[in-house]
Amino acid sequence: MFKLEGLYATYGEGMVLRHVDMEVPMGRVTCLVGRNGAGKSTTLKAVMGLVKTPQGKIFLEGQELQKLPVYERAKRGIGYVPQGRDIFPQLTVEENILLGLEAGKGKGTIPDFVFETFPILREFLHRKGGDLSGGQQQQLAIARAIVAGPRILVLDEPTEGIQPSVIQEIGRVITGLKSRMAVLIVEQYLEFVLNIADYCYVMENGRIIMDGEPEHLDQKRLQATMSL
Ligand SMILES: Nc1ncnc2c1ncn2[C@@H]1O[C@H](COP(=O)(O)OP(=O)(O)OP(=O)(O)O)[C@@H](O)[C@H]1O
Ligand SMILES: [Mg+2]
Repeated sequence: MFKLEGLYATYGEGMVLRHVDMEVPMGRVTCLVGRNGAGKSTTLKAVMGLVKTPQGKIFLEGQELQKLPVYERAKRGIGYVPQGRDIFPQLTVEENILLGLEAGKGKGTIPDFVFETFPILREFLHRKGGDLSGGQQQQLAIARAIVAGPRILVLDEPTEGIQPSVIQEIGRVITGLKSRMAVLIVEQYLEFVLNIADYCYVMENGRIIMDGEPEHLDQKRLQATMSL
């Protein structure tokens, strides 16, 4: 189980997250939704240690992470795909994936399950990351995040700027990965994310205002929250 308990986060002045509680179990896809500026990316940055968290706790399988530096959290088993993907355009596909291996548990070769998950990456192994299409770059970013076998995969708007057929493919991949790890996904594309999520948190102004299984969420309130 991955868990946030009463988490606050700040970029300097004023709290962006306020008392966020969240549970992200293994074998489940948990989603976090909310409109622009709600604090979704900040929540994921707080998980990774990229933003100050003056109060609250972050647990991974019972161990507290909130005081650990970013690289140590990656090593403990958090795979992170930032918004906008952030791959290295000048490095090859292979080099990009190997970076994920080094950030995680160690060095070695890329395990087969990565290419079984994303066959296209094997084909383009020696191509530069920057020469891939947007959807392929998203696949590369996910490959880099899972190559070290994380306990939790954290994805920030994986469908942003990607065509529908690739979005469906990414949905299938995420559903397939959950048997190996917990998945926490931030999305604004509701129809997509409610389809693949087992549990959903709704954020507004840095607070969780609603949570539940997708089919039990108050649809009216959800739509209102997303569209304001
Ligand atoms: N580096 C930063 N410095 C100061 N404030 C920031 C910084 N990054 C984000 N914020 C502020 O924190 C709040 C939450 O931003 P965040 O990026 O978490 O929103 P989001 O829910 O991910 O939105 P979007 O859907 O647009 O990605 C916003 O008010 C934003 O302006
Ligand atoms: Mg964001």
